Amino acid sequence: MHGREPAPRRRGPRTRAIVLIGFMGAGKSRGGRPLGEQLGGAIVDLDKRIEGRAGRKVQEIFRDSGESAFRHAEHAALKELLMELRSGAERIVALGGGAFAQTRNARLIEAGDVRTVFLDAGAEELWRRCRQQAEQQGSERPLLSSRGSFRELYETRRPHYLKASFRQETGGQTVDEIAAKVIQALGLGRRRVRRGEKQ
Ligand code: S3P
Repeated sequence: MHGREPAPRRRGPRTRAIVLIGFMGAGKSRGGRPLGEQLGGAIVDLDKRIEGRAGRKVQEIFRDSGESAFRHAEHAALKELLMELRSGAERIVALGGGAFAQTRNARLIEAGDVRTVFLDAGAEELWRRCRQQAEQQGSERPLLSSRGSFRELYETRRPHYLKASFRQETGGQTVDEIAAKVIQALGLGRRRVRRGEKQ
């Protein structure tokens, strides 16, 4: 009788991380900071990594080289990061809004010992937060052209985000409250994540 072949055993250490995903304005970087503080570790921001590797801001990569060049840089930075995290304690990683919606990135993430947290909010709320941040910081996110296209992109990506291990609603809560809920839901305690890396 022919049963199903068992999945091949992976060799070597697996990547250990808690990956924050969600649309622009979901609070992945802002929410990740108190999460890192409460867990005694620093968060790794993938967009900051991309900027460090490229020596350019995300906006500049989009403006000068286009979105596909950005996606290429994003994938390469993610791959490198996940390799680095293949030992030791768990780290918290904040992804840019489009990263997990790219199948090849989602596959890389799912291949590790990684828990994904979808920071969720409605499209209107996310649009409002992004507009507010743009006004406060005087800089626009590259994909923030119109309310209609923002919503459309949100609808396209939401099914991808819903594949996360855990979904946390973010509306009407402080980043500290959100971090506390994520910690509780994932059963995390202090010092479970590795100290370190400055962004
Ligand atoms: C993007 C979101 C941005 C950044 C880039 C592309 C996206 O990150 O990665 O501008 O495709 O949604 P944030 O989600 O942190 O804004």
